[in-house]
Amino acid sequence: ERAVALARAIPKAELHIHIEGSLEPELIFALAQRNGVALPYASVEALRAAYAFTDLQSFLDIYYAGASVLLKEADFYDMAWAYFLRAKADHVIRAELFFDPQTHTARGVPMATVIQGLARACADAREKLGISAALILCFLRHLSEEDAAATLEAALPYREHFIGVGLDSSEVGHPPEKFIHVFARCRELGLRVVAHAGEEGPPDYIWEALELLQAERIDHGVRCLEDPVLVAELARRRTPLTVCPLSNLKLCVVDDLADHPMKQLLDAGLCATVNSDDPAYFGGYLNDNFEQTVRALALTEAEVITLAKNSFEASFVSDAERAALL
Ligand code: HPA
Ligand code: ZN
Repeated sequence: ERAVALARAIPKAELHIHIEGSLEPELIFALAQRNGVALPYASVEALRAAYAFTDLQSFLDIYYAGASVLLKEADFYDMAWAYFLRAKADHVIRAELFFDPQTHTARGVPMATVIQGLARACADAREKLGISAALILCFLRHLSEEDAAATLEAALPYREHFIGVGLDSSEVGHPPEKFIHVFARCRELGLRVVAHAGEEGPPDYIWEALELLQAERIDHGVRCLEDPVLVAELARRRTPLTVCPLSNLKLCVVDDLADHPMKQLLDAGLCATVNSDDPAYFGGYLNDNFEQTVRALALTEAEVITLAKNSFEASFVSDAERAALL
């Protein structure tokens, strides 16, 4: 119980949150009404009832449908602001938000609308809530590398508003290797680089993210445990893993939180962190993830402190900002 209370109260950074995955059913319906978008669900309850996932793809289908109500800059702002209010309540003092521009530009929403709405919410998070916030642009890996490259070029007029790039969506069949050129260009531009790997995909995808994309963090990465040489390399490099326990449970990556590998990752000396991934879809925000994981794995207060420390070590705050935050 003391470990749970500590986990809830301790200041922390959240590094793996897809902002479109923070869109609650109530806000989806409100935005659908505001924008005159028809939804294939009769009510908030009917939509929530559809949140029974068997794997990553079954989630992504509903997640992209939910995002279809986002049309105007104010919609992106309102979505992110709602997340920041939740994050504040969970004692998040640094948040690095993934966003999926291709999900919106493919529907005709201008890149400027997406980035400016999110960036304005980040600025307000700092000014009004004291949360240091930054954006990470994710490429959808089920689309082509050419599409990713065009997305990057379309985002470059707004370069000051995002700190890095990531890789998300359907993992299996879309290895990191597919994006080697666009990631090289991103690194040349001085962008920070992360990638989802080893959620449903094999340890080889984590190796590719490290070696071919030079990813500085691995999102999820839980399947690294199947490859002891990889675990040793991640520990040696101190490459952080942004782990999402409730996501892993809801997408059937683990059958039970009591079987979640977080404890093994910590015991292996890895820089593992706790994150919410898509909190509106997976049953909880950051403190829910901490509380349920601490309970299921009987994590100690020392382990909770390690997780909070890891979140700041893994974050992309500048050294100057780190000194101001901590
Ligand atoms: N994995 C891949 N793509 C995603 C996820 C995830 O957990 N959440 C939102 N897009
Ligand atoms: Zn994710």
